[in-house]
Amino acid sequence: MNDMTRFDREGEARAILARNDRGGYTVPTDRLYPFQWNWDSAFVAMGFALFDPDRAYRELERLAEGQWDDGMIPHIVFHAPSDTYFPGPEVWGTRHRIATSGITQPPVFGMALRHVHEAAVKAGLPGADERTRVLFQAALRSHRWWLRARDPEGLGLVAILHPWESGSDNSPAWDVALARVPATTTTVIRRKDTGHVDASMRPRDEDYQRFIHLVDTYRDCGWDPQRQWASAPFKIADVQMTAILARATADLMHLAETFGTSEERSELADMHQRLTEGLARRWRLELSRFVSLDLISGEDVEAPTQACFMPLVALHLDDAQRGAVTTEIERWRQGMVVGLPTTPAFSPAFEPKRYWRGPVWAVVNWLLADGLRMNGAEDLACQIERGTVQAIERAGFCEYFDPTTGEGLGGDSFSWTAAAYMVLRRRSGAPATGAGAT
Ligand code: GLC
Repeated sequence: MNDMTRFDREGEARAILARNDRGGYTVPTDRLYPFQWNWDSAFVAMGFALFDPDRAYRELERLAEGQWDDGMIPHIVFHAPSDTYFPGPEVWGTRHRIATSGITQPPVFGMALRHVHEAAVKAGLPGADERTRVLFQAALRSHRWWLRARDPEGLGLVAILHPWESGSDNSPAWDVALARVPATTTTVIRRKDTGHVDASMRPRDEDYQRFIHLVDTYRDCGWDPQRQWASAPFKIADVQMTAILARATADLMHLAETFGTSEERSELADMHQRLTEGLARRWRLELSRFVSLDLISGEDVEAPTQACFMPLVALHLDDAQRGAVTTEIERWRQGMVVGLPTTPAFSPAFEPKRYWRGPVWAVVNWLLADGLRMNGAEDLACQIERGTVQAIERAGFCEYFDPTTGEGLGGDSFSWTAAAYMVLRRRSGAPATGAGAT
């Protein structure tokens, strides 16, 4: 790949972000996802930080407009109407100042804030500190919400009440738990996704009904966190979510040195300790990975998925763990054109083209490579980053990639793939940056 091609792709990446801009926030892609999505925007903000820190702050500020009074940052903010997506605001029936969904998504926000702040300071952006100070408080309120609403029993693990909260919506990790959820709905389902992308890549209808059953259930609880916790038919203490929250907490601890009070600093340190201890207990040496916990059945979630490695972004593994994890990741990459598959090919659940059941996501690789680097596995981190960059250069800025062929799938002109391209291209050639560096 020569420099000229790379330069062109960088221009294309920026053009995608510009095209998906709807006024200070970026839609993941036109039509298929026509609103602001929570973790997408956090990744996009880190992409913008490379060349326009002011716009990077705007992305986070617009997301924070959707934050509820109790601290939750919703998974979708419906800033402007669109009829190309289901379920829209009328199905969620939430009561925030602006229309939002009623569930959340991985809290990459705190990681992004540190990243944007550092880029803004480096660029000498006027007013950066003031903007960081406000967003730091938003992030802190959201972390408090996580622990209060989603770890009321103090396990040191936060739970998802809906597969869509995980960000890995259709992952085999949810199959056993989701099968217990009734497929009956009071909402009339009008799927729009299968009108934009081939149905063979999307969740099956019966699972979709279960997704909506959960929405109906929580709407009937008036979106009250305690009532939802008590009546949730799906409740999984998720290692991916907990790892991202723990890592974002570490990034907030760093920001708190400048922007926090001493109480806030110790509050964050306690939060961090609780989450990292909770995560550490989920390690399974015999599997060479971490496992989530189904809080309804009390059983470990056995399905191997990318989530099982996500604790690397938050924990410093010991030598035995690091060796086991890197060997296992290598095994998952074997025979693949692009790694890392979100479900390994040896799993019976592997489907290389279906949503979260095998395909490669650039942002997942972004986090995993970050965690590997943080744990001293620089070579493997670089290989994963380079593989991602090459997949994008070959197939374009698709939503995700078939690991067995490298084919680009799902929606195209995808914002977070564009952001990932810009960030990973720089990182893959860069020397090790150490813990907490994003
Ligand atoms: C899908 C993904 C989710 C993402 C959203 C918008 O729902 O599973 O992680 O945030 O699309 O890109």
